[in-house]
Amino acid sequence: MSPLSAARAALRVYAMGAAVILAQLLRRCLGGFAEPAFPHQAGRVAIVTGGTEGIGYATCRRLARLGMHVVLAGNDTAKAEGAVRSIKEETLNDKVEFLYCDLASLESIREFVHKFKKKKIPLHVLVNNAGVMMVPQRKTADGFEEHFGLNYLGHFLLTNLLLDTLQESGSPGRSARVVTVSSATHYVGELDLDDLQSSGCYSPHGAYARSKLALVLFTYHLQRLLAAQGSHVTANAADPGVVDTGLYKHVFWGTRLVQKLLGWWLFKTPDEGAWTPVYTAVTPELEGVGGRYLYNEKETRSLAVTYDRDLQRELWGRSCVMTGVLDVTPDILAGRRPRREEATLEGV
Ligand SMILES: NC(=O)c1ccc[n+]([C@@H]2O[C@H](COP(=O)([O-])OP(=O)(O)OC[C@H]3O[C@@H](n4cnc5c(N)ncnc54)[C@H](OP(=O)(O)O)[C@@H]3O)[C@@H](O)[C@H]2O)c1
Ligand SMILES: *[C@@H]1O[C@H](CO)[C@@H](O)[C@H](O)[C@H]1NC(C)=O
Repeated sequence: MSPLSAARAALRVYAMGAAVILAQLLRRCLGGFAEPAFPHQAGRVAIVTGGTEGIGYATCRRLARLGMHVVLAGNDTAKAEGAVRSIKEETLNDKVEFLYCDLASLESIREFVHKFKKKKIPLHVLVNNAGVMMVPQRKTADGFEEHFGLNYLGHFLLTNLLLDTLQESGSPGRSARVVTVSSATHYVGELDLDDLQSSGCYSPHGAYARSKLALVLFTYHLQRLLAAQGSHVTANAADPGVVDTGLYKHVFWGTRLVQKLLGWWLFKTPDEGAWTPVYTAVTPELEGVGGRYLYNEKETRSLAVTYDRDLQRELWGRSCVMTGVLDVTPDILAGRRPRREEATLEGV
């Protein structure tokens, strides 16, 4: 990226954020947000990444309140144990637990999946929520640019490794669900397949928006593969809105000041922010429905380019190479069953 396009990326992200905030403000003035009704989910199991804080924490708490067995996946053990304790106390649901998973490390993700599978429990809901925003130029353990590596590739691998369990756990009329948290910034994201790692002039804004755009493309391709296999698993993207969380710690100080002073008014609370992901995870209205982008609990169109199947497929292929997952797209789309040892989309 050139310095000029980095500046343009920043402007586009702030303009997008301002537009969403304005829409939220308007909605609040016109009567506010109405809390959706969520049906009870007893006996079902969820994994939520980044459940220690913000939207992820609110999502865990809500799912626990609905009676789900919730596995909180995170990279800060002390914080996560505190989160588990308070969710248990508040919801009186003792099936809430923490499993260590650093999404910035492919090895840690593989270990997490290994530990989860050893429990021999089903998996009905995977919420790909964890994320970082506008961090300084850094690399993950595997050398990927952090937004792309953690927000996107980490969830790409995690989902692929858990697909067999999700497929076994979904049933006709009661699909298992992959809910991937994206963001309105994806609308201003740009994805150059030959520059996924933001080489050149680094734009933290551009890199964040790109990771959120990649997650939408991933969701649609995943849904296409799942549907082609006739599996009882769906994949959707959820956009929480602009939410008052710690995600903004790396943004421009002026924005942080606005958040500090007016966040209670302009931003959604973490609970409100969790409504769309939770809705996408549990509502009967979305039973069997996948490949959608949900915002304010409603289906919305995502950026035009996200519907480009060639781009989806190409990004998926490259992500497979980057994470060591076998790309079974050609087999599945040709209606062939992948060979036994490759029976699922996983690559372990
Ligand atoms: N807030 C918004 O306005 C907004 C808008 C659109 C989309 N979103 C999306 O919503 C999701 C949640 O964001 P949030 O606003 O709730 O932010 P947040 O409060 O900063 O929470 C982010 C979560 O991700 C976790 N995380 C960070 N690095 C991790 C790693 N290496 N491994 C595992 N977990 C890690 C954090 O855990 P620790 O802190 O314990 O490390 C934390 O629990 C993100 O995907 C974000 O892009 C947020
Ligand atoms: C978790 O990961 C994030 C993103 O890489 C990092 O900033 C944070 O320091 C990590 N937390 C711990 C406790 O290692």
